[in-house]
Amino acid sequence: MNKGTVQKINQMEPWLGEEEKRAMIEYLDSGGWLTEFEKTKEFERMIADYTGSKYAVTVNNGTISLIIALMALNIGYGDEVIVPDFTMIASANAVTIVGARPLLVDIDPSNLCLNLGKTKELISPRTKAIMYVNLNGRCHDMNETVALARRYNLYLIEDAAQSLGSRFMGKHLGTFGDIGSFSFSYPKVITTGQGGALVTDDDELYDRIKKIKDFGRPQSGVDYHETMGLNSKFTDLQAVIGIEQMKKLDWRVNRKKEMYRLFQQLLKDIEQIKFLPTNLEDCAPWFNDIILEQEGIRDELTRFLKERGIGIRPFYPAVHTQPPYAYIKGDFVNSEDVSKKGLWLPSSSFLTDEDIERVCRTVKAFF
Ligand SMILES: Cc1ncc(COP(=O)(O)O)c(C=O)c1O
Repeated sequence: MNKGTVQKINQMEPWLGEEEKRAMIEYLDSGGWLTEFEKTKEFERMIADYTGSKYAVTVNNGTISLIIALMALNIGYGDEVIVPDFTMIASANAVTIVGARPLLVDIDPSNLCLNLGKTKELISPRTKAIMYVNLNGRCHDMNETVALARRYNLYLIEDAAQSLGSRFMGKHLGTFGDIGSFSFSYPKVITTGQGGALVTDDDELYDRIKKIKDFGRPQSGVDYHETMGLNSKFTDLQAVIGIEQMKKLDWRVNRKKEMYRLFQQLLKDIEQIKFLPTNLEDCAPWFNDIILEQEGIRDELTRFLKERGIGIRPFYPAVHTQPPYAYIKGDFVNSEDVSKKGLWLPSSSFLTDEDIERVCRTVKAFF
C-alpha cells in the first residue's frame, strides 16, 4: 500500500521497515547478542515508561504472559477466574492451561468488555481473579472495575493485548490491576514478530514474574529453582525491532485514531452500520470495528468485500461456542449477538486516506 499498490487492502502492516532492518544489522555488526540482554532491558524500560508502570518484563508472546501472570499470582487447580465470553481465545486458554477454571461472563455490548453486573453474580469463594480484557482499546470506568475486584478480594489481571496506546482518563490500560499483559505478536499495535510483556508496580510480583520466565530460578546460569517456571525469555534481536517499533508508536496511535474517525465519517449515512461509542481522546482502536445490526448481512458484506480484494475479518466467535469450552453453559446473549454481527474493517496504520475511501465506497456500493 505504501509502496504504491492498492490491489489488495488488508489488515497487514509492512512492519519490518528500513529502520528495523538497519537497527538489526547494526546490532549484529556490533557483536550483539541473540538472547535476552541489554537491548531487552532497554525495550522493557521503554514499555514501562510508556505505560507508566514501575516494571515491564518481556516474554515470548501475549498468551505466555497471561499464563505467567496467573502463575505469579499462584492461581491454579481448584481456582476460578472470571473471563469475558467475547475475547481472543488465549485469555480463556491461559486460565485452563494453569489448571484453573474460566468462569465465562457475558459482555457489555456498548464496549465489548466484561459485564461487571453479571460478574458479581458468578463470584464464589473459589474465584481468585478477574481477567479483564481491554478489547480493542476500550474499557469500562476502570475505577469501577478495580473497586469490584477489591470488594471481592480478587486479583485483577488486565489482558491489554489489544490496547497498547489506549488509556482510561489518561492512565494507560493494563496498569489498573495487579498485572497487565501486552502482546507484540503480528499484527498488533507494535510487533516484534511474536512477543509479549507483563507490567506491574508490585516489587514481589515483578520478582516472581522474572523467575517464572526463567525456569523458576532467581539467577540465570544457576541451577537452583526456587519456583515452578517456564522458559519464556525474549531475545535481543526482537528487542532491537521492538525499540524501533516503540519509536513509531505515537505516530501509529494517532493514525489509528484518524483512521477510525475517517471510517466513522464516511460510513455515517449507512443506517445498518453501527459504531461503538469510542472516546478517541483515550482509545486508539487497534481494529476499525463495526456492528451490522441486520441478521445475516455481516456475512454477505464479508463475502462482497473479500471478492473485491478487501481484507476484512468477522469478529471472534463467542468463547463458549468453541469446542474446548462447549462444556460451559450460561446466558451469553451479547457475546453471541456481536460475534454474529461484528466486522473488523481494514486497519493497518499504513492504509492511506484514499485506501479507506475506496473501502468505504465499496461498502456503500454493497448497501
Ligand atoms: C485479547 C488477547 N489476548 C491474548 C492474545 C494472545 O497474544 P499472542 O498472540 O501474543 O499470544 C491476543 C492476541 O491477539 C489477544 O487479542
